[in-house]
Amino acid sequence: MQIQWYPGHMHKAQEEVKEILPQIDLIIEVLDARIPFSSENPMIAKLRGNKPTIKIFNKSDLADNEQTTIWQNYFNDSKNIKTLALNAKDSDHKQQIFSLINKLLPKKINSIKVTNTLIMGIPNVGKSTLINTLSSRPIAKTGNEPAVTKMLQRIKLDQGITLLDTPGMLWGNIENEHSGYRLAITGGIKETAFELPDVASYAIEYLMHNYPANITKRYNISQKKITTLINNDPYADVTILEIIGRDRGCLINGAKIDLDKVSRILITEIRDGYLGKLTFETPSVMDDELKLVEINRTKKEAKKLAKLKKRDHNINI
Ligand code: G4P
Repeated sequence: MQIQWYPGHMHKAQEEVKEILPQIDLIIEVLDARIPFSSENPMIAKLRGNKPTIKIFNKSDLADNEQTTIWQNYFNDSKNIKTLALNAKDSDHKQQIFSLINKLLPKKINSIKVTNTLIMGIPNVGKSTLINTLSSRPIAKTGNEPAVTKMLQRIKLDQGITLLDTPGMLWGNIENEHSGYRLAITGGIKETAFELPDVASYAIEYLMHNYPANITKRYNISQKKITTLINNDPYADVTILEIIGRDRGCLINGAKIDLDKVSRILITEIRDGYLGKLTFETPSVMDDELKLVEINRTKKEAKKLAKLKKRDHNINI
């Protein structure tokens, strides 16, 4: 999948975060509970070391509860990490978050010194909604289109806590192709940056294998039909999209299925929760994909090295 990032801005913002990290006492990572791995900033994962971190599983109202618990247990095993699953829109979570900061920094909070926290989150994850709750006043924008970064913003909270925000920061250089798809499905990547049918095919295939009952409930396609398609149709994903498209009247000239239209319907309905509570990745899937990323990276580096060697060899003769 071809995804367009904002390389110039992103690089600057990442550099700024890297620079400020040593002064940060605690990181608040706002993750999308449906994709806790793909919505994580790989740079933070690499650089945080043992820095106290609160991983907030936001939009947990849209995620599979069972999977959210599995993810929380997975992270809670790590040193200095605490997790909290919530729906930032729902109610005031300020006390819960402050009490977690207290647990992770028992001595620091309430002392004379300021506690510097860094809040990170991909566009649309609900970070602004959460910041407004934490600061008890409307601070950051809320909106549904991923924004271009505006560099670091400092927000003062109660109890001597300062929140450093990275507005609209989207992690560049996604090496894991699956993460790109999952971000597109859940709304972390601008729609202009991907092909709708491509993303919808990925989504429906995932649902056919992992949440067939949800497809049956929403689109009235029997589980038997889904299983038959999986086993016999190499283009089962497109076939299902066509069935949904026909049912929803997504037709061009009254005959051909309008794949763009039905893809938009599917993605919107997934995002709005009409297909039920869904999670698109598990810790074991993450481990497998990370291994693959590492293998591809090594291969790429070896190829680059071979190319350089060849060039040097050609220069020397
Ligand atoms: P951002 O700063 O990370 O970019 O995200 P923001 O707070 O602007 O939230 C993006 C969208 O996600 C908003 O919807 C917001 O209401 C919604 N949202 C935030 N947290 C949650 C959550 O826990 N669960 C659910 N279901 N939605 C959440 P919007 O449609 O853009 O705005 P609005 O219609 O809510 O005003």
